[in-house]
Amino acid sequence: MSRVSRYSYRWRRYLNVARAARPVRSVTRSACSCSLGTRARTPTRCGTDIDGPVGVRAARTEAEMAATTRSGAVKSRFVLEWPLVGRSEELAFIDSALRRRDAARGVVLAGGSGVGKTRLAREAVALERRHGARAWWVTATECARAVPLGAFADLPLEPGDPRETVHRAVDRIVEGNDHVVVVVDDAHLLDDMSALVVNQLVVQRRATVVATVRTGEPAPDAMAVTWKDEHLRRLEIQPLSECETQALVEVALGGPAERATVRRLWRLSRGNVLFLRQLVASSAFRRDGAVWQLAGGVEVPAMLADMVDARLGALPGDVRAVVELLALSEPLPVDLLDSATGRGSVERAEDAGVVAVEPSSGRLDARLAHPLFGEVGIE
Ligand SMILES: Nc1ncnc2c1ncn2[C@@H]1O[C@H](COP(=O)(O)OP(=O)(O)OP(=O)(O)O)[C@@H](O)[C@H]1O
Ligand SMILES: [Mg+2]
Repeated sequence: MSRVSRYSYRWRRYLNVARAARPVRSVTRSACSCSLGTRARTPTRCGTDIDGPVGVRAARTEAEMAATTRSGAVKSRFVLEWPLVGRSEELAFIDSALRRRDAARGVVLAGGSGVGKTRLAREAVALERRHGARAWWVTATECARAVPLGAFADLPLEPGDPRETVHRAVDRIVEGNDHVVVVVDDAHLLDDMSALVVNQLVVQRRATVVATVRTGEPAPDAMAVTWKDEHLRRLEIQPLSECETQALVEVALGGPAERATVRRLWRLSRGNVLFLRQLVASSAFRRDGAVWQLAGGVEVPAMLADMVDARLGALPGDVRAVVELLALSEPLPVDLLDSATGRGSVERAEDAGVVAVEPSSGRLDARLAHPLFGEVGIE
């Protein structure tokens, strides 16, 4: 089979032919759907969190960033949460999913690590609270997964018949209220019994459910069925666009930012807000007139480097070899990489989300899915 036909489904994906057929919704990040403009149009939707509105307060004032270095550069410091930027379409989607009358109410927010899933879930809860809902927040973890009903360990339940236990858990959560919102953060990590509780909350329409899941991570069956059978609407959360990244950087710095500075932060974060926050926090900025600019290079903070290291370190050897070669030089033709690292390794690297393959002048080229993979590299 030729390389092109082996990858033909990917070609279709890149060419967007299959897009319309996909049941999963995702909000396209337009080239310049600049969020500050959006915020001006819908101020009440932006910048709220679980404890109430954060509003459009400037995330950091100069006084808050005041650790001035000897060179006159202002070392950034992390003080406040950034106001929500660039998610008005997602919030509109969530709002409609939470207000359905003819079907289960709720939404699954799916996306890569650090893209902003938990933050959107918090915005969704705030929205529901404003409509009078009682809120339950559950965070699933690897650790609690080993225990049946681990995610709901707070519930005072006597051990007994598992089916009975699930029913009692549902009753305890709802407690006779007709407007309860249950958020399940990182629902792909739920143990089976907790997943069944969430499933029953959805299927019996006892509560509104907002779940976050990491794209590509297997979820327990009882959870996955909630979106596969379309009880819950699923939304793929995309990284921010370059324009939205600029808006966020400017809000964080408290004023306009130099183009080259934004470009550099965008190139390294690719709109991943967790990455962006850490890059901004570890970098120094100074003001030239009214405009903020980097006062030196961007340092990849240790925590971010560790996260990338952990991700790359967990890859199989052939996939890591693909990443290592691309860290030295990219893009490289898929054929060349495959012959150097083993047949199918590029496809596996793409499936693992560390490499992107794109058609280029009649052949397929591979590049790192994220520039930080190249910056951090593999020891
Ligand atoms: N649109 C946004 N505007 C401003 N800040 C944001 C936005 N999205 C996310 N953040 C902030 O970025 C950080 C990372 O976001 P969040 O924790 O929601 O990511 P995540 O997708 O849940 O990550 P993980 O996969 O690690 O759970 C948080 O501090 C969050 O408040
Ligand atoms: Mg999260």
